[in-house]
Amino acid sequence: MPAQKNIVILISGRGSNMEALLRANLPCRIAAVISNKADAQGLETARAHGIDTAVVSHRDYADREAFDAALAQEIDRYQPDFIILAGFMRILTDGFVHRYTGRMINIHPSLLPAYTGVDTHARALQDGVKIHGCSVHFVTPALDGGPIIIQAAVPVLHDDTPQTLSARVLHEEHRIFPQAVRWLCRDQARLDSDGRVSVDRMEQLGSTLISPGLD
Ligand code: GRF
Repeated sequence: MPAQKNIVILISGRGSNMEALLRANLPCRIAAVISNKADAQGLETARAHGIDTAVVSHRDYADREAFDAALAQEIDRYQPDFIILAGFMRILTDGFVHRYTGRMINIHPSLLPAYTGVDTHARALQDGVKIHGCSVHFVTPALDGGPIIIQAAVPVLHDDTPQTLSARVLHEEHRIFPQAVRWLCRDQARLDSDGRVSVDRMEQLGSTLISPGLD
């Protein structure tokens, strides 16, 4: 049996995606949860699950380079195989990103490459798209622009608000994120040298989502 992988999860707030990972019975050791905010709700949840937590506050550092260096130092204490960004709301320097190439993934609440950045649900509603969703991707220096591992699509309903749409997307985030981490930890998914993601799967299931539905 290959050694069990170690992961470190980075959060900034509520931590519901982190909690989905903690509950997923993943084939890896969750070494620590690190937040850039001391009052992140997710820290309490992690502690309740008996996971080590740490805070590296961006406010304590003069610039992004200094913060990222401190963050990397804290992460590296745990010698993780993978770094999992679960609602971690800081833009990372290129140096930090390169340090963890192929070992750092992020969950984003849109069907990338559409709607990078923030306020994805409000922007999707504004544009009148009929299908929206979420993506898990490897982190590269391009904000929310790294190679995609898995996505889930949901319909946009005509009376949706950013809140109702967000809840529908979040439900799917909690499904695809543990799947992506499971693939990584089992060495079933990887970032290839050509910058593409490969996932070892026997077959690809799924059905077409048409929104609104056909009569
Ligand atoms: C999620 O929608 C995630 O996709 C985005 O930030 C939100 C974090 O929520 N990056 P939570 O902290 O995981 O509950």
